Amino acid sequence: MDAKETAGRAAAAYALPGMVLGLGTGSTVHWTLVALGERVARGERVRGVATSVDTETKARAMGIELLSLDAVESLDLAIDGADEIDAEFRMIKGGGGALLREKVVASLARQVVIVVGANKVVTRLGTTFALPVEVVPFARPMVARRLSLLGCTPRVRVHKDGAPYRTDNGNAILDCSFAQGIDQPAELERAIDTIPGVVESGLFVGLAHVRVVGYDDGRCDVVRL
Ligand code: A5P
Repeated sequence: MDAKETAGRAAAAYALPGMVLGLGTGSTVHWTLVALGERVARGERVRGVATSVDTETKARAMGIELLSLDAVESLDLAIDGADEIDAEFRMIKGGGGALLREKVVASLARQVVIVVGANKVVTRLGTTFALPVEVVPFARPMVARRLSLLGCTPRVRVHKDGAPYRTDNGNAILDCSFAQGIDQPAELERAIDTIPGVVESGLFVGLAHVRVVGYDDGRCDVVRL
């Protein structure tokens, strides 16, 4: 088991029978879905709200029941990955482009468990990963200029063939590099949110409760904030 599988599988233990789950996105939470799928195969009913089309497809294939947000007012537990997480469980998310739905789902969950390999734990956000910001395509040039004024270098996310990247919601992503990392994540999140044309930023502050860190030797560190 590598670090991702160790963390992803360990987090599935937080999903108690009967809970309504938020199902995150990415290659680490993939292993949570696998573990939940194994429980479905043993006869348990597992249900949740998916944060991306990718997760929806995987969950459906594993027999996990999918709910829409019309059907739920809150979630018992969300399990998701992160691109960076610090000691206060502040995070950068959105490497896979699912930040908007991930933030909506995390904000509805009574408990949020984050699963990461040890390489994702940082002392300062923005030092190993650019901050994704989801923007309305029409406003992208103007938003990029306004983001630069906040001290970063925004780059338009594109596919390998150069085609513009679009999120599951039809929006563009600007990946914003901060040369010295991010000073005040909460303040920056608020400042980005006030730019017209921004849909959501990948800064997640005050949303996570438990951090599950996996290591390649199969060890796992679980910390509750
Ligand atoms: C999806 O947009 C992201 O927020 C993912 O949760 C994050 O990129 C973690 O993905 P991995 O587990 O694949 O590293």
